[in-house]
Parts: sequence; C-alpha cells; structure tokens
Amino acid sequence: MSKLFKILLWILGGLAVLIALAATYNSLAPLPVYEVRLPENVTIPYGDSLALAQGARIVSMNCVICHRNQDGNLAGRPMPEKDFGDVYVANLTNHPEAGLGRYTDEELVHLIRTGIKPDGSQLLPFMTPYFKMSDEDLYSVIAYLRSDAPLVQPVEKYWPDNKLNFLAKALTRMVFKPGPIPDGPVPSPPLDDLVTRGKYLADAVFNCYQCHSASFETNNDHEPWLSEGYYGGGNPVGGVAGPLTISANLTMHPEYGLGEWTLDDFGKAIRQARRPDGRMLSSTMPPFTSLTDDEVAAIWAYLKTVPIQDNNAPSGLVVAD
Ligand code: HEC
Ligand code: HEC
Repeated sequence: MSKLFKILLWILGGLAVLIALAATYNSLAPLPVYEVRLPENVTIPYGDSLALAQGARIVSMNCVICHRNQDGNLAGRPMPEKDFGDVYVANLTNHPEAGLGRYTDEELVHLIRTGIKPDGSQLLPFMTPYFKMSDEDLYSVIAYLRSDAPLVQPVEKYWPDNKLNFLAKALTRMVFKPGPIPDGPVPSPPLDDLVTRGKYLADAVFNCYQCHSASFETNNDHEPWLSEGYYGGGNPVGGVAGPLTISANLTMHPEYGLGEWTLDDFGKAIRQARRPDGRMLSSTMPPFTSLTDDEVAAIWAYLKTVPIQDNNAPSGLVVAD
C-alpha cells in the first residue's frame, strides 16, 4: 500500500468517526432552549364583545386551518405530514391542564408571538409564530380562546410528545431560530392607510404569503417580503390545509396573476372561494368568509404594490388527494 493511500485511509476514517459523533450528538443531546422574556402590561379584554368578535374572526379564518379536528373543535390533531417525524397540532381549548388553561396570559402572548414556550423550548415552524400581530389583535384572539365559545370548550385531550426525526432535530439545532421578542407595544396599523393595513393583514395576520410564495422552505417569516417568489404562487400546498394544490400567483401579472381582476372578483375569490368564471377554488385555499369590505380592499390595495412575478403557477391543479 502506498504511503499516500494510507494517509488517505486515516483521513477518511477520522472523518467517519467525526460524522458518527455528530450524528450521535444530534440524536441524543437536548434541543436548544431560548430566552423567555414575558411581556408586561398585558390586558386581555375579557368579556368585551367587540374584542371577542374580532378574536373569533381571526381564529375562525386562520388558527382553525390546522388546530380544528373532525369533532369541529380546536383540541388539535396529529399532523398528516411526516417529514419531521410525529408532530401533533396542539390542544387550544380551555382545558386547565390539557389545553391553554395551563398558561398565564403573559405566557400565551409570548408563546403565540415568538413560538417559545415558558420552558424555553421552541415550537416547530409548521406554525409560524405571529411575530408582527398587533397587541390589540393578539389580545382579542386570547380573549376568544379563553371564552365559552363552542370551538374552545374544554376538551381533555393530551397529545403525545412530538417524536422528531433526525432531520427535524438537526434543523431545530441549526436552522430554526426564534424571532425577536418585541421591546415595547406592538400597535395596530392605521385604519385609513389601506396599503399598510393590507400588508399587515396579508403578511402578519392571515399569512397569505406563506402559501402564495415559491415554497415553505424558502419563506422568510421575519421579513415576509424577502421570501423567494413573494406572492408569485407555485407552492404545492396540502397536508393539514387540504388536498394538494398549487397556490396561485397573486401579483398583478396580466396573464399569470390578478392583473385583469377587479376588486369585486378578488372579494368573491377570497370570501366565497369562487373564481371570476364561477368555478370553485380548491378547499386548500381557506375561505376568508368574514373579512369586511374594508379589509378586502386593503389587501387588494397592498397586492397592487407588490412587485410583479412572472411565474405561470398552474393553480387549481390538484396533484393528489
Ligand atoms: C399552519 C398550521 C397552524 C396554524 C395556522 C396555527 N397553528 Fe398553532 N400550532 C400548530 C402546530 C403544528 C403546533 C404544535 C407545534 C409543536 O408542537 O412544535 C401549534 C402549537 C400552538 C400553540 C402551543 C400550544 C401548547 O400547548 O404548546 C399555540 C398556543 C398555538 N399553536 C396557537 C395558535 C393560534 C392562536 C393560531 C392562530 C392565530 C394558530 N396556532 C395557528 C399549527 C398551526
Ligand atoms: C393554506 C394555504 C393558503 C393560504 C393561507 C391562502 N391561500 Fe389563497 N390559495 C391557496 C391555493 C392552494 C390556491 C389555489 C386554489 C385553486 O386554484 O383551486 C389559492 C387561490 C387563491 C386565489 C385565487 C387566484 C386565482 O388565480 O384563481 C386568491 C385570490 C387567493 N388565493 C388569495 C389569498 C389571500 C388574499 C390570502 C390571505 C388572506 C390567501 N389566499 C391565503 C392557498 C392559500
């Protein structure tokens, strides 16, 4: 055996040992723990009927997509996607131990906004934390989650701990990082500034960009507008949301996007899931039934400012059930 060959063998052997050590570390070492800095001056508007109605709207157009189960409540369910191992969508009902009753208001604000639990562990990014949701909206959501509405009646359902696979553990260590904890109050956007309000609704509350940009893997959840193919569609969406469907290009491209649409067409599509030609959209596109006319106009005004993407997303194509 030549000397060079022996050296090469030693190097390869050494590398193999290093890789085995790293793999063992990844499988066995505890997952990272992050800072918990609970917010101050949290005042949940319990019993305020306007706030409850606002919370109900946000929850019923957004959180239900993943947390609602076959029984029609928010007690959660197993995630159908197994890419990360066995993951469970959490129980958001009012149960004192199995549900959200075990968190204080401050812990819940911190958890929903940063994805960090009171013990410092991080939620998997299936649920992107609501980093930029305003205090007013977030407090309304919590008032609703703690109300006696049928969706959140206490259900004693304990899900097993998530069983993360090798990939999910490695990503949790190296890639998934929590967002910044806000330093002060997070204000709601001004009602009369349509574009700012539309951007807030689309990017911070209803997360339209997540499904409607190129891929969940290249989305930038801290600064959504930096996501690859922002609002250009083409993302295959399915799993917990519905049958696998390619999302549509929502930019103002005249042919591939919404360039020829009217505000009325847009309102019908997002509130009634109906295309301008009358065909129904796939159920994977959640119907935003209770958006007000002003909110629809705001999201439309914002989409008109988004740089046009010339992605010919073959939306409507249901690739599989
Ligand atoms: C795209 C799917 C999805 C959406 C939409 C979603 N969630 Fe989640 N949520 C999850 C998953 C999955 C988990 C569990 C993640 C984990 O265990 O790491 C979770 C966990 C949580 C938890 C942690 C509960 C606990 O006991 O640990 C809270 C609180 C929560 N979600 C609140 C909300 C609220 C409020 C909304 C709407 C404003 C919402 N979620 C929307 C998927 C989603
Ligand atoms: C859970 C993923 C998801 C979310 C969140 C989502 N969409 Fe969609 N949307 C889709 C999919 C998938 C389609 C394609 C449906 C089809 O073609 O049948 C679609 C289609 C549409 C269409 C029809 C476009 C066309 O050319 O036919 C519009 C308009 C639209 N979405 C707007 C929005 C807006 C605005 C929001 C946020 C308020 C939003 N979507 C949030 C997945 C989503």
